[in-house]
Amino acid sequence: MAESKREKIAIIGSGMIGHCWATLFLGGGYQVCMYDISQDRVDAALNAVQFKLNKLKDEGLLHGTLSIEERLANLSTTTDLQECLAGAIYAQESAVEDLQLKTDLFMKIDSLTGPDTILASSTSTLAPSKFTENLKHRENCLVVHPVNPPVYCPLTELIPAPWTKPAVVDITYSLMTAIGQSPIKLTREVDGFAINRLQYAILAEAWRMVHSGVISTADVNKVISEGLGLRWAFYGPLEVSHMNADGIKHHNERYGPGVIRVLNDFGPTPTFFEPETLEKIASDLNQKIPVEKLAAHRAWREHQLGAIAQLKRKLAKEKPADL
Ligand SMILES: NC(=O)c1ccc[n+]([C@@H]2O[C@H](COP(=O)([O-])OP(=O)(O)OC[C@H]3O[C@@H](n4cnc5c(N)ncnc54)[C@H](O)[C@@H]3O)[C@@H](O)[C@H]2O)c1
Repeated sequence: MAESKREKIAIIGSGMIGHCWATLFLGGGYQVCMYDISQDRVDAALNAVQFKLNKLKDEGLLHGTLSIEERLANLSTTTDLQECLAGAIYAQESAVEDLQLKTDLFMKIDSLTGPDTILASSTSTLAPSKFTENLKHRENCLVVHPVNPPVYCPLTELIPAPWTKPAVVDITYSLMTAIGQSPIKLTREVDGFAINRLQYAILAEAWRMVHSGVISTADVNKVISEGLGLRWAFYGPLEVSHMNADGIKHHNERYGPGVIRVLNDFGPTPTFFEPETLEKIASDLNQKIPVEKLAAHRAWREHQLGAIAQLKRKLAKEKPADL
């Protein structure tokens, strides 16, 4: 349930991630202002939000009760950073992934906001301490990292810098919940945060197995898409262990030594640039997903993720009351 609110949200950088944030905050009923560095980009972001809103409506996945017209009436755009931030309670930065750019941008944002504005970055790889240390309002800064595309993947990880006020994390957590996201909190910075630490562990082993000729590119992808990924859409790795035996303790008694043996067999971290392997994987991937057709494949991926989001909602309603 969301009616129009008076509070304003500033979206800074309105590309692939930024326009999704705008779409989500509109679902919470907020006044949203999208900023980008040129009129072309702002116009493209506005079109993208309109497209997303209509698609989500068709899929029955629009969060909140406002009509599309009411949402769009709450949306403004600008190429003036000061205008974007004026009166905002929360700013979500989603500019390109570049430490120097984010450091400079956060300095500007900091100088244009007061002590009551939360300053969040969507960065996938940069710890918040790296670009907020010298800011006047550094206690208001944190990373709010979504999964692409955030309109279909609600998981959002919140990472505080050492100086982030706990209340800032708590308020952001409530805000994420209010716009239909599914937030998690890290207690402190770790490189890669939670999402990419897990993702990269799998990426490394996929690479190692293809590199050593144990498995083909197609088959290693299938391990996830036709196997593990299906379960992971509903249960995480610890839950899977708990359910695959008579509880996690039983799982560890039965499988623990084997798990450790396999982990010790993994070998060193790959460089991901071994030329022959890179050529082979690139060629294999290009056969299935040609680079020139990536946009169409991304659109199809979004369509499929929308279908999973619908299914998950349906199943959540059908879940037996005693489970
Ligand atoms: N794409 C992903 O899968 C993904 C997932 C999670 C988080 N992220 C993070 O989100 C952020 C944005 O990524 P993206 O994929 O949307 O990139 P993108 O290239 O689609 O969009 C970046 C936008 O930033 C704008 N920009 C450039 N300089 C700027 C400046 N000085 N001030 C404001 N805006 C500026 C660009 O014009 C562009 O519109 C990055 O930090 C990235 O790590 C990306």
